[in-house]
Amino acid sequence: MSILITNIKQLLQVRKNNTTIVVGKDMKTLPLIENAYIYIENDTIIEYGSMEDYDVIEAETIIDATDKIVLPSWCDSHTHTVYAGDRTSEFVDRINGLSYAEIANNGGGILNSAKLLQETSEEELFEQSMKRVNELIAMGTGAIEIKTGYGLTVEAELKMLRVIKRIKQECLAKIIPTLLAAHAIPDQYRSNKSDYIKLITEQLIPEASKLNIAQYIDVFCEDGYFSVEETAAILNAGKTYNLQPKIHVNQFNILGGVSIGVEHNALSVDHLEELNSEDIDALKNSDTIPVALPGCSYFLSIPYTPARALIDAGLPLAIATDYNPGSAPSGNMNFIVSAACVKLKMTPEEAINAATINGAYAMGISNMYGSITRGKKANLIITRSLKHYREIPYAFAHNPVEQIIINGQLL
Ligand code: NIG
Ligand code: FE
Repeated sequence: MSILITNIKQLLQVRKNNTTIVVGKDMKTLPLIENAYIYIENDTIIEYGSMEDYDVIEAETIIDATDKIVLPSWCDSHTHTVYAGDRTSEFVDRINGLSYAEIANNGGGILNSAKLLQETSEEELFEQSMKRVNELIAMGTGAIEIKTGYGLTVEAELKMLRVIKRIKQECLAKIIPTLLAAHAIPDQYRSNKSDYIKLITEQLIPEASKLNIAQYIDVFCEDGYFSVEETAAILNAGKTYNLQPKIHVNQFNILGGVSIGVEHNALSVDHLEELNSEDIDALKNSDTIPVALPGCSYFLSIPYTPARALIDAGLPLAIATDYNPGSAPSGNMNFIVSAACVKLKMTPEEAINAATINGAYAMGISNMYGSITRGKKANLIITRSLKHYREIPYAFAHNPVEQIIINGQLL
């Protein structure tokens, strides 16, 4: 299998060296080649350059990309794409004035999704979730992290992990599984939360590790969910089984979860709608990347992550969808890139860096994904006719994606 794309108006995110993260003011630079070609063999990027230096290459498929832009497919480092049904009734409740917290306290929210997922067969859960993943791929996403967290029993969390594993086997996109059993406290553990934490640390983590079906460990560190101390205990248990943390922190309250994440060598700390200077200091000189989720802020009408403060402090930033039924029921990375520009005041260059190479970093796969680099995976977006890549975030809610190449296959 070989594909040659010629006459590309702009080939974006071309990184000669194997860059694995882009940090601080470097995020303002998006390296590109104007009037370019790229050649792919099997699943790998082999060659690219300016059309001026192009020497005829034979290929099974040749695509003329005149007036089109080619870029690495989106890397969505934070999703909850495996879930059952939807929460449209809570959406209406919120329009009518109830808050996310009030809905959760009335037995809605994550517990509502968990009840539905527990009652849904594994086959049905797979069908619903696979359909969503295919929709994400069609919108230009080529690598997706998927969390558990709507099971909340050993049995249902393992069911979620098996569904994620099957998605991984049946689709071309890169799928990264994260164990988020500490997403909410099941009703039966309301008065003895420590027993639920024991279930996670003594049963679920060892079992998931034995089956080798989770790569990262996540905790919802938040008032009413898991405290900083409980988060630390769960992360320590994960560490014993080689599960690196990627955690939910500072969505509604600042509890100190950011520094706990950094101390536990978290790959990413995600949400950060609330943020203070100690959090920023904790992230400096660490390998932990902050991740902003503007779709969640949009949908819940909560503050947006202060991206400028993070980037201007010299930190890296990734952006992701948080695709889930409660706080962000959209997995469209094109919208996230636009929202990052409009609401987080990121430049188009910063937003595209955040959604490609830095998104890949936040999944631990940026050595193979997230940039146009010889030897990396051939995961590409070919846009519709555009005058400039700035139109991708500018024309918000339009679909810039015309064709997709995932793992070297034209879809
Ligand atoms: O990332 N904050 C916790 N978890 C999800 C929302 C889960 C839900 O409401 O179902 C989030 O926003
Ligand atoms: Fe989330």
